[in-house]
Amino acid sequence: MSYQEVYTRWKTDPEGFWMEAAQAIDWDQAPSKALTDKGDGLYEWFADAKVNTCWNAVDRHVEAGHGDRIAIIYDSPVTDTKTKISYAQLKDDVALLAGALQAQGVTKGDRVLIYMPMVAEAIIAMLACGRIGAIHSVVFGGFAANELAVRIDDAKPKAILAASCGIEGSRIIEYKPLLDGAIEAASHEPEFCAILQRTQHLAELTEGRDLDWHGFQVGVTPADCVPVEGNHPSYILYTSGTTGQPKGVIRHTAGQLVALNWTMEAIYNVKPGDVFWAASDVGWVVGHSYICYGPLIHGNTTVVFEGKPIGTPDAGTFWRVISEHKVTSFFTAPTALRAVKREDPKGALVADYDLDCLKQVYLAGERADPDTIHWAQDRLGVPVIDHWWQTETGWAIAANPLGIESLPIKVGSPAVPMPGYDVEILDDAGQPVSAGTLGAIAVKLPLPPGTLPTLWQAEARFKSAYLNTFEGYYETGDAGMMDEDGYLYIMARTDDVINVAGHRLSTGAMEEVLAAHPDVAECAVIGVADKLKGQMPLGFLVLNAGTDRPDADIIAEVVQSVRDQIGPVAAFKQAAVVGRLPKTRSGKILRGTMVSIADGSEWKMPATIDDPSVLDDIKGTLKTLGYAEA
Ligand code: COA
Ligand code: AMP
Repeated sequence: MSYQEVYTRWKTDPEGFWMEAAQAIDWDQAPSKALTDKGDGLYEWFADAKVNTCWNAVDRHVEAGHGDRIAIIYDSPVTDTKTKISYAQLKDDVALLAGALQAQGVTKGDRVLIYMPMVAEAIIAMLACGRIGAIHSVVFGGFAANELAVRIDDAKPKAILAASCGIEGSRIIEYKPLLDGAIEAASHEPEFCAILQRTQHLAELTEGRDLDWHGFQVGVTPADCVPVEGNHPSYILYTSGTTGQPKGVIRHTAGQLVALNWTMEAIYNVKPGDVFWAASDVGWVVGHSYICYGPLIHGNTTVVFEGKPIGTPDAGTFWRVISEHKVTSFFTAPTALRAVKREDPKGALVADYDLDCLKQVYLAGERADPDTIHWAQDRLGVPVIDHWWQTETGWAIAANPLGIESLPIKVGSPAVPMPGYDVEILDDAGQPVSAGTLGAIAVKLPLPPGTLPTLWQAEARFKSAYLNTFEGYYETGDAGMMDEDGYLYIMARTDDVINVAGHRLSTGAMEEVLAAHPDVAECAVIGVADKLKGQMPLGFLVLNAGTDRPDADIIAEVVQSVRDQIGPVAAFKQAAVVGRLPKTRSGKILRGTMVSIADGSEWKMPATIDDPSVLDDIKGTLKTLGYAEA
């Protein structure tokens, strides 16, 4: 069947389409129907089924006789370690950890926070939660204690699973001080923490609260899979929104199983047994969907890579891993390829490895610039597929579904909507616009299985953030257009979210940190174009009248505060003191205009501006900072 036929088949009978896809899942109790309309824009998939994630991701492959197949390849250039875990071994490891959690009183519905680097135990921890129906919430290691505390207070975990340290290139990042700081700052207190002691750094355990990862598993009874309802949350993953309070995206168990399993063949073009590698982090949605769940549910081998695209040890690392482990489909962020390209512009290191195994490369997380796509395509000689999705959707809204049909690649476009997504471009009044016209990208409700049904204990916020702007639609927060052939083009965010090195961050959250500085009267943070990281945050500070401290000191302090409170991953390194911020007459800061000036793109004096001369000052400041031809 062609893509068009598959898409039409879905559109004609969406429920039938997903019921058919659901046959690939092992149900304890099959769903009696696909979709439940709960009213008011809320939907659930396969709600009345009974199923277990871990059974489908692990046990069933062993039962089917594939116990010897490798489930996880852990490749860590930063610790010089490579290990392989078979499906049979994974089952034992997961059952034991799940048993230890159970022995400590963790049961179905309890939350377990996971704060771990890219080690196989992070995947084992996620699966162990799924095995007993506990809801995990993985927090990215690059976030500071304060961000961790916010998540602890929102998810209220009974347990925290953490490692003693992460490794960033050659630096050891001690996790325990961050964890202790977070627990101290949070109002909610977990009952216990289990700490994986890594040999690179042994953490001091807090008596009465911290357990040793291996120690607490000794002698426990391995846990069986606990069937849960189809609409039982598999996890909560916090993502940046407009404010400093992150949104707790939840994923229902059954929808995730059905949708991710479908994508492995249709989009990623792999067969069970093939090696699939997403070079991301377990703390991001890509890590959830395509390091952990998707490949394992589908019976693939997944690679857990603890390293960077460059410097661990060089820009040939990606090619080494692909060649050594026979990776068929490789998924990374454009920024990672830009980093490789910068170090090895000619791609000389590609020639050092036999990459015959590699059939295709996938890019997501930020806009894929044509230069990078061409560079990778020319060097690797395989299709480089841009695809577009979000933490909220859990899988691709638009892609080139190579497993169905290899559509012509239009560089600059993540191709076409996937079955399940009825994508429209809307104007401010919510009316569909014609092909080639810019607008807000929205998806007609209901969203497909595997996407967010709501936010964790925040239904009103779910509605106001996603459903209220355009009735009957999910608002993606991205702006763009669709061409005559139905190809999408993703141009910009319509909110305060920026993408720095493929990491989703909130400028609003950074502004909250800046505004808390005693000398800062007002501030704005914008995302400016960056050749390597796609975007970088840039802060503007208006100081309180009478402040006589040097600007440089205040700037250094706010830079440090963002690092301490949000984390190094915010990459907030540049700020400037200005006399005033450009505003509309109603007092709204003209961030978009500032971005256009900084990026050197075309801009018009906003008709609503209060005082145009303020923009001259901003232009001068940007010029001093080295931005564009301001
Ligand atoms: N734990 C602790 N610190 C972390 C971290 C982690 N898991 N991840 C990143 N950081 C730190 C970095 O060490 C860096 O600290 P520094 O300011 O002291 O140098 C800071 O956060 C910013 O990190 P990053 O933006 O990643 O920049 P970088 O210069 O270290 O690396 C790239 C640049 C392009 C190589 C890197 O960003 C990269 O590999 N990006 C790909 C991202 C990706 O795959 N995202 C997945 C989304 S699909
Ligand atoms: P995240 O939730 O971290 O996956 O970030 C999602 C956001 O990243 C999207 O809303 C887009 O703004 C951006 N994004 C992801 N993939 C792409 C892509 N292929 N092209 C352009 N932007 C993308």
